[in-house]
Amino acid sequence: MIYPIVAYGDPVLRKEARDIEKGEIDVKKLAEDMFETMYAASGVGLAGPQIGLNLRIFVVDGTPINENAEDEEDKDPSLEGFKKVFINAEILEEDGEEWGYEEGCLSIPGIREDVYRPEFVTIRYFDTDWKEYTETYEGMAARIIQHEYDHIDGILFTDHLPMIKKQLLKKKLSNITKGDVDVDYRMKFPK
Ligand code: NI
Repeated sequence: MIYPIVAYGDPVLRKEARDIEKGEIDVKKLAEDMFETMYAASGVGLAGPQIGLNLRIFVVDGTPINENAEDEEDKDPSLEGFKKVFINAEILEEDGEEWGYEEGCLSIPGIREDVYRPEFVTIRYFDTDWKEYTETYEGMAARIIQHEYDHIDGILFTDHLPMIKKQLLKKKLSNITKGDVDVDYRMKFPK
């Protein structure tokens, strides 16, 4: 089932999401639907709040980034087989030098800006079998995790931009909230 993706300006994107209790919902089915929704919008990550669920779950699949790379050396080894579900995740540590990359977000179509994030992230989470993991990621994999993890804490990539950039984006962002934007996947607009 494909969910409409919640657009910038909806309060659900600004709430801190809560943990999912084991047995409360069918997490396998939810994860499946989230992947389907994400692929339909050509995204590489999708978090619960983006489909209107105030729950700490996000899915990622960074492998298309490597598949679309022009040549071998543009491929990021961290994305090899990087398709995962993160439930009740908690970032334990971020480390390394901050590096910039032009990020986008399915909830904020048509805007891409450089965001600086630390190189490494250590995260504890459950998979859909409720098996617990603590793992460290780097490179693009770490970045995708950091971006999606922000979503379950009510943070958007635009929050990381310098004040001047935020000012310049104000009009575009309010247009997204009003539904005045070109987008080729289904969205739910607040106004
Ligand atoms: Ni996003």
